[in-house]
Amino acid sequence: MKGIILAGGSGSRLNPLTISVSKQLLPVGDKPMIYYPLSVLMLAGIRDILIICRPGDIHQFRHLLGDGTRLGLRIDYAEQDAPNGIAEALIIGAGHIGTDSVALALGDNIFHGPFFQGVLEEQARNVEGCVLFGYAVKDPERYGVGETDAAGRLVSLEEKPARPRSNRAVTGLYLYNNDVVDLAKNVSPSPRGELEITDVNLAYMRRGTARMVELGRGFAWLDAGTPESLLQAGLYVRTLEERQGVRIACIEEVALRKGFIDAETCHRLGSAMGNSAYGQYVMDIAAELGESQP
Ligand code: G1P
Repeated sequence: MKGIILAGGSGSRLNPLTISVSKQLLPVGDKPMIYYPLSVLMLAGIRDILIICRPGDIHQFRHLLGDGTRLGLRIDYAEQDAPNGIAEALIIGAGHIGTDSVALALGDNIFHGPFFQGVLEEQARNVEGCVLFGYAVKDPERYGVGETDAAGRLVSLEEKPARPRSNRAVTGLYLYNNDVVDLAKNVSPSPRGELEITDVNLAYMRRGTARMVELGRGFAWLDAGTPESLLQAGLYVRTLEERQGVRIACIEEVALRKGFIDAETCHRLGSAMGNSAYGQYVMDIAAELGESQP
């Protein structure tokens, strides 16, 4: 399975923060926002990832993540010329997807919760159509809203409905089989002028091959698209990190735990950031796991 992170968009709701810096590079806690969706794809076992960003921002992302080799990944970059919608990422990424299945993650969505890695691995193993992840929210009218039958099959889906049929928001993580490229190419712009991911998902629903997996209570799904939600996400992350002495979305730790890199490499990555608490944490994890490795 391939991965795509859509890190485009003008980020206008965060102006002036996003005038010179891409939204997905702003800090959430002590790390750049894109670490969160990147770690989600890594937890799913995905190592071949395309990052799509707004024109002119590629060098910022490349400076941060390079070609991914040091994390045991392969990272490529592409531009989205204008904020033409989420579904366009699947057209821009068609060459990257090739004949494979794909996980698409929105660059400003933050997922954190128990057993998430297991859920991701299981769902990513065999995607027959599309897999969405639903999450109960108080304000579903702001999102794509879905309903499922008892078997988890999607039976209704609407984008930002005035009168939502459920409180289940469709989160910004989508798993697709290879049909998605053709389906995305057939989508026409919506009244807001975007190629809507909801239209792609509706195409799967009509075929009867769309499922929605519930992310239940105790799970956190946050977006970081406004000053308030950005701050809230940072506080959420730091609160848990301080309390438990762990780090959420530490990509070096995920790479080590997944076996993408060895402990020595991980230690080196930490020591390059050794003056920071984050770098120290990476070194500590490398030492701890290195001892238990043969
Ligand atoms: C987009 C999707 C919507 C989804 C949301 C998740 O909304 O269109 O279906 O629920 O992302 O973050 P947008 O950010 O384009 O308003």
